Amino acid sequence: MAILFCFFLVSLVTLVSSIFFKQIKNTKFNLPPSPPSLPIIGNLHHLTGLPHRCYHKLSIKYGPVILLHLGFVPVVVISSSEAAEAVLKTHDLECCSRPKTVGTGKLSYGFKDISFVPYSEYWREMRKLAVTELFSLKKVQSYSINKVSEKLDAFYQHVIDDHLKPSTLDSSGDIVALMLDMIKKKGHKDDFKLNVDNIKAVLMNIFLAGIDTGAITMIWAMTELVKKPLVMKRAQENIRGVLGLKRDRITEEDLCKFDCLKHIVKETLRLHPPVPFLVPRETISHIKIQGYDIPPKTQIQVNVLHFRGQHFDFLPFGSGRRICPAISMAIATVELGLMNLLYFFDWRLPDGMKVEDIDIEEAGNVTNKTSKFNLPPSPSSLPIIGNLHHLAGLPHRCFHKLSIKYGPLVFLRLGSVPVVVISSSEAAEAVLKTNDLECCSRPKTVGSGKLSYGFKDITFAPYGEYWREVRKLAVIELFSSKKVQSFRYIREEEVDFVVKKVSESALKQSPVDLSKTFFSLTASIICRVALGQNFNESGFVIDQDRIEELVTESAEALGTFTFSDFFPGGLGRFVDWLFQRHKRINKVFKELDAFYQHVIDDHLKPEGRKNQDIVTLILDMIDKQEDSDSFKLKMDNLKAIVMDVFLAGIDTSAVTMIWAMTELIRNPRVMKKAQESIRTTLGLKKERITEEDLGKVEYLNHILKETFRLHPALPFVVPRETMSHIKIQGYDIPPKTQIQLNVWTIGRDPKRWNDPEEFNPERFANSSVDFRGQHFDLLPFGSGRRICPGMPMAIATVELALMNLLYYFDWSMPDGTKGEDIDMEEAGNISIVKKIPLQLVPVQRY
Ligand code: HEM
Repeated sequence: MAILFCFFLVSLVTLVSSIFFKQIKNTKFNLPPSPPSLPIIGNLHHLTGLPHRCYHKLSIKYGPVILLHLGFVPVVVISSSEAAEAVLKTHDLECCSRPKTVGTGKLSYGFKDISFVPYSEYWREMRKLAVTELFSLKKVQSYSINKVSEKLDAFYQHVIDDHLKPSTLDSSGDIVALMLDMIKKKGHKDDFKLNVDNIKAVLMNIFLAGIDTGAITMIWAMTELVKKPLVMKRAQENIRGVLGLKRDRITEEDLCKFDCLKHIVKETLRLHPPVPFLVPRETISHIKIQGYDIPPKTQIQVNVLHFRGQHFDFLPFGSGRRICPAISMAIATVELGLMNLLYFFDWRLPDGMKVEDIDIEEAGNVTNKTSKFNLPPSPSSLPIIGNLHHLAGLPHRCFHKLSIKYGPLVFLRLGSVPVVVISSSEAAEAVLKTNDLECCSRPKTVGSGKLSYGFKDITFAPYGEYWREVRKLAVIELFSSKKVQSFRYIREEEVDFVVKKVSESALKQSPVDLSKTFFSLTASIICRVALGQNFNESGFVIDQDRIEELVTESAEALGTFTFSDFFPGGLGRFVDWLFQRHKRINKVFKELDAFYQHVIDDHLKPEGRKNQDIVTLILDMIDKQEDSDSFKLKMDNLKAIVMDVFLAGIDTSAVTMIWAMTELIRNPRVMKKAQESIRTTLGLKKERITEEDLGKVEYLNHILKETFRLHPALPFVVPRETMSHIKIQGYDIPPKTQIQLNVWTIGRDPKRWNDPEEFNPERFANSSVDFRGQHFDLLPFGSGRRICPGMPMAIATVELALMNLLYYFDWSMPDGTKGEDIDMEEAGNISIVKKIPLQLVPVQRY
């Protein structure tokens, strides 16, 4: 649905945009060269990283003057000093307006500032006033910078009100006071009048342009100095030598004494201009740059990052009419800050960190703050939806296709969410073993948040103290081998019940819906283990069919992403609201919650805790909690943990059994060998098969492994999320990236498995490969800190049920069809099940 909606939007505007672009292309002008553009978005798809770096790449390919269409906005990118000179000097007047954007309009009180106001009489007056009254060298030297920055901390209005108090007005001498003074004196032309909004707009300029740019320059200067200890040492010796030792304070008086400091600041600004493509300009009239026509109302972006040398080669503050008016103030601030830091302190890197480890990655937007990642290969992406269009089908199959083309690590953007798909055992080992700690959080989605009572469960809780405590508790109290053993009688009784039901069908020679049978089996076991609710006894609160439906609906709710999952923020919420996406999740949640509440209420009655089920165990823990305990469980935690067991335990084991029986019917040789092995090992005419018999038949164990290899119940494990920056096979994976481990693909890797598509349990006969998380070729239960804690319970159920069904019955396809022709189509989203239910006819052997 998400994809459909996006495509709908795309097609809707394609027509309009194609007409628009056609018109532009058909002009008589000699326009600058352009990279290929797409309908609607024009060249927006070229801006898939930091803009100045994207422009730089384009300039290498298309030259120093390029025409782009960012959406419907024509933009010329200038990337050489000659072209910059033509814009900023020769055509300065024609290029000295500014494009209007919603953001700049809002922040500048409707373009009442200096930076963003279009070229006009108003701007000329404001600028004159600013240059002569606010930012002149004399004025800069008269400001108490601390005083200004202190006041700018508060809201502009508060600052102005403050200045209007008689005591402040006379004494502060800062920018606000100067401007208020101007208003009072009214010494300007009548048609140019200042009011409070103008003061606020100028404050905003200083706030945005002054704080960020100065700080960024100092950050880069110190970064470069730490990277080059010799330069740092020389600068410190120079400053300390000239100022003498034991100075109490360094002031701006001292600034003029140090050429070396000026050179450091210049070199920093050359390599790291804080505003790499200046503040965009807009042409007022038609101009020609290096023979190219630039129409009026075209945005001009001058990319100064890669300029070298002097004058127009070096433009950190811009040039021409709109050159930064506060150069003196900015340089004074940066030099004073650096001089103090270098005089009073020596600097070294934190323990264990080497110069090579310094991260010089850049971040930011208008200004240029910090590093360039070597991200894994990506398929082409579209604006807004990113790579969502690559997910047209079952996700594990789509990702599988991408891995064949792009390799074992693929970087995708699903909407605005970064995702790395892992498709080889080596890369899986790097994630689940080498970087397990860094990768052991979970991404948050709307569905998982709702169904886990706000991430109060084990499966979806993000990594942290809470998850560690609840996982420890669950592993010891709920999933330990002692506890798994204590539920053994439940599994045995429920499997006996299945054998009885199948015998009835065998008697009638009617087919059994094994898909339904396995779901009922696992649902019955989990309901008894977790809730103490036995379907075979009266007084059950919901009927069994509804429970199974609820599990399927929950899996759908968890697996079907909402728009908010891909587009966190307003857009996602709006589209979800439009399509009522949360309705389904809320409905399932409500019903399950009412069910759990009912069960808990039952347990709270006297005699209510006669069974040692999971609800009883957790309620007992809650009773034993002391006031002083730092980690406390409440009812929501209980419900969230029960939800985990319910959702993780029913579906997964059932799906595994369905695929195992499907492969066996498809492969009569394997079925026959399995039955013979079991019957020979256990002896003929055995009354009952119990968990005493588990592990005795090696071939059954190979069948289980082969089923997990070809049909892992969860083809992606459960998604992980990186908590810090990691490197996998030389690629950078940034923090907060979703990791999707495609164990389905890993199980089919032809480098690891001969004839990977063939169901051949014998491949495990002389192999140590196991599914318990130690071999990264076979990972049905995941691995590392987040490995499935329910594995022993699941294996016991699956092995016991299969052993019984293969011992007591022979199996054939209904209507004489052949096993080899069985339909293998998959369905589902989180767990992948056989789409068409598995119907087989049993023949009773014993
Ligand atoms: C064949 C059956 C099952 C399969 C294939 C399976 C698979 C998995 C996988 C792949 C994970 C994620 C591991 C990771 O992130 O590395 C997982 C997590 C989990 N599983 Fe299972 N599972 C099965 C049965 C069960 C059962 C029966 C229960 C409970 C009764 C259970 C409870 C859980 C829980 C609570 C987690 C979350 C662990 C965490 O995030 O710390 N699973 N399971």
